[in-house]
Amino acid sequence: MATLNPRIRDWRDKRVWLIGASSGIGAALAERLAAAGARVAISARREARLRAVAARCGGARVLPIDVTECGRLASAWDALRGEWGGADLVVFCAGSFHPRRSWEMTAESARATLTVNQLAVFDGVSAVVPTMLAAGCGGLVLVSSVAGYRGLPQAVEYGPGKAALINLAEILYLDLAPRGLGVWLVDPGFVDTPLTARNEFPMPALISADAAADEIVAGLASGKFEIHFPKRFTRVLKLLRLLPYRWYFPLVRRSTGL
Ligand SMILES: NC(=O)c1ccc[n+]([C@@H]2O[C@H](COP(=O)([O-])OP(=O)(O)OC[C@H]3O[C@@H](n4cnc5c(N)ncnc54)[C@H](OP(=O)(O)O)[C@@H]3O)[C@@H](O)[C@H]2O)c1
Repeated sequence: MATLNPRIRDWRDKRVWLIGASSGIGAALAERLAAAGARVAISARREARLRAVAARCGGARVLPIDVTECGRLASAWDALRGEWGGADLVVFCAGSFHPRRSWEMTAESARATLTVNQLAVFDGVSAVVPTMLAAGCGGLVLVSSVAGYRGLPQAVEYGPGKAALINLAEILYLDLAPRGLGVWLVDPGFVDTPLTARNEFPMPALISADAAADEIVAGLASGKFEIHFPKRFTRVLKLLRLLPYRWYFPLVRRSTGL
């Protein structure tokens, strides 16, 4: 059966740029892909952590950037393109999460979260797509979240940005797949990383960053559009997506106590 995306099974000499790879899922994925033979470039703000990840990757290219600085993703891409001639895969993994209720949000905090989680992805996508279209190949991986499926309490800034990424990935797929590019949407459930360390509630179906990286690698090999995991959790949330509001709201209140 035809798949929605190319199946990536052989990583030898694949050029992969991971944005948001100084810790957590991005770092684990960088290590996993480097071990499989990919040429890896990694970006985030904390250079020392990037260098530690690069050492575990056997010498990845380190491009320290703050994705919220206008033009930084484009200039990093120019540098990488100059060295590599392009990239086979760009993974947008940078993200920020602060659990907040609606009354705790400020204009500044919302802007800060949405700039990392959403606007920076637009910056990066618009920087790399022209090169990939000219080459007629390449792929984009957008790391969203099951928090983007429907509204959840404590995700007042995080959820809307992740919902936007799901919508963006669908549009990118419609535009770019017929032109030879791959577009993948990654929707993790709870993963044990610094981002979730501040959650004070028991996280259902929590998995490690290494397990998340394995799921992403398996998903990229399968040719699917959406890579979601762990299935025992994400399938439940997919069902919740179908509920009418009059059932959804009371169920969320009851299960979260919020
Ligand atoms: N953990 C989960 O349960 C979970 C669930 C669903 C989705 N996700 C998504 O998975 C992605 C990775 O998160 P994670 O859980 O692995 O958390 P993490 O360990 O905190 O990783 C976040 C990464 O984003 C980078 N980053 C944050 N702000 C940045 C900025 N302004 N400029 C450049 N890089 C920046 C961080 O590096 P620096 O701080 O060094 O810049 C870090 O490398 C995020 O998009 C997150 O929303 C996570």
